[in-house]
Amino acid sequence: MSTAASNTARYWLDRAGAPPPGPSAFPVDAVRADFPALSRTVRGRPLVWLDSAATAHKPRQVIDAVGDFYAHHNSNVHRGAHTLAREATTLLESARSRIARFIGPGRAEEVVFVRGATEGINLVAQTWGRTRVGAGDEIVLTTLEHHANIVPWQLLCAEKGARLRIVPLHDDGTVDLAAYDALLGPRTRIVALAHVSNVLGTVLPVSAMTDAAHAHGAVVIVDGAQAVPHLRVDVGKLGADFYVLSGHKLFGPTGIGVLYGRSELLEEMPPWQGGGSMITSVSFEHTRYAPPPQKFEAGTGHIAGAIGLGAAVDYLQSIGLDAAHAHERALVAYARHRLAEDVPGLRLLGPPNGVGVTAFTIDGTDPARIAKTLDAAGIAVRAGHHCAQPVLRRYGLTTAVRPSFAFYNTHGEIDRLVRELIQVRRR
Ligand code: ALA
Repeated sequence: MSTAASNTARYWLDRAGAPPPGPSAFPVDAVRADFPALSRTVRGRPLVWLDSAATAHKPRQVIDAVGDFYAHHNSNVHRGAHTLAREATTLLESARSRIARFIGPGRAEEVVFVRGATEGINLVAQTWGRTRVGAGDEIVLTTLEHHANIVPWQLLCAEKGARLRIVPLHDDGTVDLAAYDALLGPRTRIVALAHVSNVLGTVLPVSAMTDAAHAHGAVVIVDGAQAVPHLRVDVGKLGADFYVLSGHKLFGPTGIGVLYGRSELLEEMPPWQGGGSMITSVSFEHTRYAPPPQKFEAGTGHIAGAIGLGAAVDYLQSIGLDAAHAHERALVAYARHRLAEDVPGLRLLGPPNGVGVTAFTIDGTDPARIAKTLDAAGIAVRAGHHCAQPVLRRYGLTTAVRPSFAFYNTHGEIDRLVRELIQVRRR
């Protein structure tokens, strides 16, 4: 067991908890066979992909769905009377309905296709935010937010004369809920929260935090980019007004994501971008907008991406979401345990029950160098600020190494990671 951190400016957990359970019954080898990228080699070694929080690999079912669209059904949507236009529209709208059921509400009109979580947050800031936030109003964020859930709100505050209020974290990476309650008030217009931290793995108590925000009349937007790959999400149960996700972290294509919004809010929000598809009639004097979600989907979107994301959620359901998540949780517990036990000088970040990631530093070793050395051994991890500089700063850091996991990873891959880190340490 590693010893307690001597530097009190840093707040790492130094215990990895009880030994985790061994490999689960999840058929990981069969599942891995669905992911072509996982069978490649890097520097002559089998690839170990521990960077799924940056982007997840895609199963053949997703790759085929995208290819099949372009090969057989390629057309613009909602516009044409011909056969391919009808086929493409049906494929797109079917994907929207399946994605809507996957995240809980089951109402396709509450699912807006966007480029990713970042665009979803910007859309809400520039529509709901610009019409409802004024001088002296407040937007509440937590310290662990990704830059995508900070900068759009800073832009809005600068334009409107509003201000950010930041919820602090406890040393273990959880949110200080007493401080959160104290920050909410009559000027709170928006609460913007990650569902899961991309650095610490912390799962935020979104439902309780949403109830508290609603009691003050604020709307809540949840950044679910790091949650949907790891947790069963039901936006209805969470009570969130808006929820965003990125397709590429959910085993789908890049450049596609979802903004879920409660119907009443989407109805009253002005459009963000104007153009084709988002209108019912246009004259030089007056334009009538289409109802949501089309009102927010100006221009030709990433049709193939949306269809691929539909295939990704089908795939996740076909392999058994709960079993996949249980396997992944066992992996994360195993990784935390082995890293803390076996790699001298390694300090873990985040709470012991964090999901998806196990960020760490090793005393006296540059995170970028660690990632480079691991790459030479065929192991891909992210090192850097993880687009979340404030949370690293909270722990006295500028960078960290972050292995991140998906259900297609194995205990053997973690053993390889640990072996290489021990070598890094020796060198
Ligand atoms: N937001 C992504 C990450 O955490 C890119 O790596």
